[in-house]
Amino acid sequence: MVHDTDPSPHPISRRALLRRSAAFAGSLALPAIVPASVFGARAPSNRIQVACIGTGNQGIGILRRFLRNEDVQIVAVCDVNTGSHGYKTDDQYLGREPARQEVDAHYAQLARSGSYTGCTPYIDFREVLDRDDVDAVTIVVPDHWHAIMTVQAAERGKDIYW
Ligand SMILES: NC(=O)c1ccc[n+]([C@@H]2O[C@H](COP(=O)([O-])OP(=O)(O)OC[C@H]3O[C@@H](n4cnc5c(N)ncnc54)[C@H](O)[C@@H]3O)[C@@H](O)[C@H]2O)c1
Repeated sequence: MVHDTDPSPHPISRRALLRRSAAFAGSLALPAIVPASVFGARAPSNRIQVACIGTGNQGIGILRRFLRNEDVQIVAVCDVNTGSHGYKTDDQYLGREPARQEVDAHYAQLARSGSYTGCTPYIDFREVLDRDDVDAVTIVVPDHWHAIMTVQAAERGKDIYW
């Protein structure tokens, strides 16, 4: 009991008082948990930020699958080739620039403003790995590059698709 001479008609034990106080304090803290919807389902903070390294035959297909995934935002592409024909089929024009343009055009369609230029192109994969905001990378380059890129990406704490 709080006190033997407590004038309250409903005396409360010390333990109950502490429990109620804790519950009250907890309810005060609740508004600090802001629902994700406040920022919009497509807010960058709600999506996995992906950089695509290697945008040739296989890489462009994987990039397109990630583009369709609403949980993902492609923030960078990386390829040593600016853009050229000569991939698997003659009509393909692949490389860094076509990939960047495709990513920006896709997100522009979804943007209220109708424009988007947020996909950054890189030649050197190490600059991609230096970005702290990149959560995951796709590594779709010739075989002799797999090990070094994968090890360095893992060392930088990136999730990896290859
Ligand atoms: N083509 C297929 O059907 C197929 C199927 C399964 C797996 N794979 C594998 O996928 C990988 C890629 O094959 P692909 O057919 O897409 O090759 P690709 O030659 O079409 O594309 C590779 C791309 O990587 C780029 N690149 C090369 N070195 C780079 C570097 N250091 N940094 C950044 N970009 C670089 C090239 O410019 C090119 O655009 C290979 O490991 C291959 O074994 C290919």
